[in-house]
Amino acid sequence: MDPIYLDHAATTPIDPEVLQVMVETYQTVVGNPSSIHSFGRQARKIVDDSRHVIAKYIGARSREIVFTSGGTEGDNIAILGTVFANSHKGKHIITSKIEHHGVLKTCEYLESQGFEIDYLDVDRTGRISLDELKSKLRDDTILVSIMFGNNEVGTIQPIREIAHLLADHQAYFHTDVVQAFGTVDMDVKDTPIDLLSMAGHKIGGPKGIGFIYIRDGISLQPYTHGGDQERKRRAGTENVPEIAGLARAVEKVGEHLHERIQENLKARRIILETLDAEHVDYKVNGSPEHYLPQVLNLYFPGTRVETLLTKLDLAGVAVSSGSACTAGSIEPSHVLTAMFGKGAPETGSSIRISFGESMDEERLQEAGKIIAGSVHDLVSLGKAGESI
Ligand SMILES: Cc1ncc(COP(=O)(O)O)c(C=O)c1O
Repeated sequence: MDPIYLDHAATTPIDPEVLQVMVETYQTVVGNPSSIHSFGRQARKIVDDSRHVIAKYIGARSREIVFTSGGTEGDNIAILGTVFANSHKGKHIITSKIEHHGVLKTCEYLESQGFEIDYLDVDRTGRISLDELKSKLRDDTILVSIMFGNNEVGTIQPIREIAHLLADHQAYFHTDVVQAFGTVDMDVKDTPIDLLSMAGHKIGGPKGIGFIYIRDGISLQPYTHGGDQERKRRAGTENVPEIAGLARAVEKVGEHLHERIQENLKARRIILETLDAEHVDYKVNGSPEHYLPQVLNLYFPGTRVETLLTKLDLAGVAVSSGSACTAGSIEPSHVLTAMFGKGAPETGSSIRISFGESMDEERLQEAGKIIAGSVHDLVSLGKAGESI
C-alpha cells in the first residue's frame, strides 16, 4: 500500500490553502517590513494583519504577539528572556520532568548559570500534581513553565488551575502550547497565562515559524540583538511569507476546531477498535480523561520499539517512538521514564501514533491491521526466542 503518515505530532503536511497564501506572498511582496517606501509598507501590512488574526484567535492584543522561528525559539525567548530580566527578584524556576527539550535543555543551561530548578514529577497518566507545585512554589520563584499538552503521550495539564494559582504570585507562567494548539480551545483572556509559545508546523502551517504570546507588562530581556523588529523583543527581518501562511493556518484552526477534534477522536477510535478486533495486547499510555485527541501512545508488551518502528516503516506505516527530536535514537523517552520509572517495560515497548487532517477511514483500518500484524509477529518471535 502507499505509505500512510501517522506522525502528525512530529510535523504536519502543509495545508494547500496555506501554501497558496505563501506562494502569492512570495510572488507579490518584495519589500522589507522595516522599509518606509510602498514596498516596505505592503510587507508591513501583511505582518500587521497576520499578527492581528493570531492575536484575535487567542484573545490577545496584537502587540502581545511576537513572531519566532518556531516552538524551540519561543520556549527559549519565554524562559531566558524572563528569567534574565527578573533575576533580581529570585533565581528559582519550576518546570516538569516531561517538558519538550526546548524547555528542559534551556532549564539545564540555566542551572549552569546559577539558577535553581525544580522539576515536578508526573503520575502514571503524565499529569503533574497541583499540590506538589504549591509545595515547591517559593517567594523567590520567578517562572513556572508547564506544557499545555504533551507531545509524546498527549496528556493535558491543569493549565487553568496553574494559571489561577500563580495569578497573585510574582512568578510568571509560561506554557508550551506547540502540541495542543489546534485541537484545544485557547483564550488568554479567560486563563491568566503570561507567556505561550507555539509552532506553525503542527497545524498545517509552514515549518520554521511560530509565535510567542507575551502578556503586556511582562519584563523580558531579548536574546537576539540587532534591529528593532518585534518591538525590540526579537531582532531580525520578519519572514513575511511564512508569517502570512501561519496566520492562515491559525485562522483555519479557528474555523474548524470542533471538526478537527472530532476527526482526530474518530481516527483514534478506528485504530483502537482495529487492534481490539485483531486481539492485540496493548495499553494506552497517558491520561484517559485529559488528553490531546491527535496523540495516541500505545504500549505493546513483548515488543521492542526500534524493531516495531522499522517493521512498520517497511510495511508503509509511519509512526514514531516519541518526540521527533529523540526519534531515531534508542534513548528511552524521558516522558515515559517520568511516568513509569527507569527501565519500566513501557519505556522500551511503546509507540506514538498521531493524527491530522483528512484521515481516510479505510486507510486507518489498514494501518491498524498492519500494526496488529507486526505486534503479533514480534510477540511470537519473542516467545519463540524465550523457549530456545
Ligand atoms: C511540545 C513541543 N514543544 C516544542 C517543540 C519544538 O518546536 P519546533 O520544532 O518548532 O522548534 C515541539 C516539537 O516537536 C513540541 O512538540
